[in-house]
Amino acid sequence: MARANYFIAALSLHIIWSLCVTKLCRASDLKISRTFPAILIFGDSTVDTGNNNFIPTIFKANYAPYGKDFPGHIATGRFSNGKLIPDMVASRLGIKEFVPPFLDPKLLNDDVKTGVSFASAGTGFDDLTATISKVIPVMKQIDLFKNYIQRLQRIVGVDESKKIIGSALVIISAGTNDLNINFYDLPTRKLQYNISGYQDFILNRLQSFIKEIYQLGCRNIVVAGLPPIGCLPIQETISFQNPLNRICLEDQNSDSKSYNQKLSKLLSNLQPQLPRSKMLYADIYTPLMDMINNPHQYGFEHTNTGCCGTGLAEAGPLCNALTPTCEDPSKYIFWDSIHPTESVYKSITESLIKQFF
Ligand SMILES: *[C@@H]1O[C@H](CO)[C@@H](O)[C@H](O)[C@H]1NC(C)=O
Repeated sequence: MARANYFIAALSLHIIWSLCVTKLCRASDLKISRTFPAILIFGDSTVDTGNNNFIPTIFKANYAPYGKDFPGHIATGRFSNGKLIPDMVASRLGIKEFVPPFLDPKLLNDDVKTGVSFASAGTGFDDLTATISKVIPVMKQIDLFKNYIQRLQRIVGVDESKKIIGSALVIISAGTNDLNINFYDLPTRKLQYNISGYQDFILNRLQSFIKEIYQLGCRNIVVAGLPPIGCLPIQETISFQNPLNRICLEDQNSDSKSYNQKLSKLLSNLQPQLPRSKMLYADIYTPLMDMINNPHQYGFEHTNTGCCGTGLAEAGPLCNALTPTCEDPSKYIFWDSIHPTESVYKSITESLIKQFF
């Protein structure tokens, strides 16, 4: 009997080992199979749950029609009609229903324990991007994180605080504004860099960012890649396309793709350099492009105009209480000329859950 058990155990070990020398094991290595006590978010409007409400900038979304489909129809500062990916991921992983903005003066201690967002709409890895939009540069979000750590330590003590941060899920999502604002639309960084050089510059900043939050105790880090930037309605408008025949800008999409390849490589190189870290690349491009190419499969009818206003240019202050909006945002990929609808965020969340958890 004991012998038989031993044989079965040896056989299972052998099978596991065989799987491990094939791709299967590597694929499962990419998964994080554990529970997270907290979620910590850094980045731009894709993950800003309301920090910009508390700083002097015009990049805000705390007024109608933003939040039209948010529980209670409240405009919280989220740049969409409903919840954002951090809320959905936190909810799917059983952490909590909403990820609050760290700058909210009414932030509860319970929310500090389970995590917050430090993100700021309009920002980028390049400090110049945030200077133009008068928001918090991603690199500066580290200062907010340090304040957060102090507050967490006061609530739970130093040791428990280290544990929470070390096992928290960290999500970083930015980069689109660096390219849009600083490279394609305004003649700033383009005078200094070609696209490849600018991508490297941004990724270099990201690498320093990751090393700093690692020093501060973060271990499980997911970094979102770029969406197909050439498909954002605003980019199509700025390139003076015929409003009746709008198509994605192939060159900008190809730049997003090459950036994503570099990002993915950077993260795989970084992981072994930072002991006990898990660095994951989140592919946003593929699921979003699939929705744009096969809208009907997802129930979408409008792929290249936003729901707010004409859908060509309105976003932020131009998408306001006086702007008429579409009747059914769930038929639209874009809520305003830059940001996806809640329906899109839901699909991307499901895709990420499949990728990682
Ligand atoms: C971009 O600029 C770098 C120098 O900064 C140069 O080495 C590279 O060849 C350039 N690439 C292209 C495609 O022009």
